Amino acid sequence: MTETSTADRSDELILVTGASGRVGTVLRPRLREAGLRLRLLDLKAPDDRLDDEDWVEADIRDRGAVAAAMTDVTAVLHLAGLSVENHWDEILSINIAGTQVVLQAAVDAGIRRVVLASSNHAVGFWTRADAGGIELAPGIAPRPDTFYGWSKAAGESLGRLYHDRFGIDVVALRIGSCAPTPPGPRGLSTWLSPDDTGRLAVAALTSHRPDGFRIVWGISANQRRWWSLAEGADIGYVPRDDAEEFADELLDGVTWDTDEPNLFRVGGHFTEMPLGEPVE
Ligand SMILES: NC(=O)c1ccc[n+]([C@@H]2O[C@H](COP(=O)([O-])OP(=O)(O)OC[C@H]3O[C@@H](n4cnc5c(N)ncnc54)[C@H](O)[C@@H]3O)[C@@H](O)[C@H]2O)c1
Repeated sequence: MTETSTADRSDELILVTGASGRVGTVLRPRLREAGLRLRLLDLKAPDDRLDDEDWVEADIRDRGAVAAAMTDVTAVLHLAGLSVENHWDEILSINIAGTQVVLQAAVDAGIRRVVLASSNHAVGFWTRADAGGIELAPGIAPRPDTFYGWSKAAGESLGRLYHDRFGIDVVALRIGSCAPTPPGPRGLSTWLSPDDTGRLAVAALTSHRPDGFRIVWGISANQRRWWSLAEGADIGYVPRDDAEEFADELLDGVTWDTDEPNLFRVGGHFTEMPLGEPVE
């Protein structure tokens, strides 16, 4: 797992929203192993919850419940929300209004840092050609590919507002593809391995460097990446995994140098899906 387990972080209490989801399930054991105490919030705790885990079952739009969940918390990892395309009203309510509730509650509770789960889909229309042979920096302008991607770009922007207004550290993680193995050929560029997900979250939550608003790409050290790792390195994120070990099986019969959206645009096939139609 992570190699950061020796640090004494017993003073830290991290509120993880959306902790029952895919990323939360990857992170729960890894954040614990890193010595962080956790409070876990989701609509429903998972069936495999541990007896000694501190779970809060609540909706992030419930201001009172979220405020109560912030008690004694030192940093927030906000994962909760819709993680693929959905109806406009749902996206607005859960991803935008819900994120505002979390940021405001963090400020009200005097919490110094919020880490937001953003997404490559906030900038999904940028292309490998735009990268121009070098890596796309996270500072590129938003170019969302869906209502979902737009909500992630808006969430980053909301985080920046809360940083500028209230001075809290906000780190937005533009996650690629968090999965056990790279999901298809695109994953050779976009994969964020489970262990690197842990390394990234620990760095974002505990680094002494954030002191501001940052956007960091969430990918492993993939040889075929075209998104920058420099901003992650700046907060101490050192990925160890590389999707290349899966290249032979994933590239069987695949043309890599193509302008097909799935391999050419940051957001892959999201750039072509119908707007506002829920993805199952
Ligand atoms: N998995 C990836 O590869 C990936 C890529 C880019 C970005 N992200 C982002 O990371 C975050 C986590 O992604 P994931 O793959 O774990 O998603 P997921 O859909 O598996 O989990 C999201 C969790 O949020 C919870 N949730 C939804 N609405 C809620 C509400 N109103 N109140 C409380 N909890 C609510 C759900 O119950 C679920 O457990 C999301 O914000 C997603 O946009 C993930």
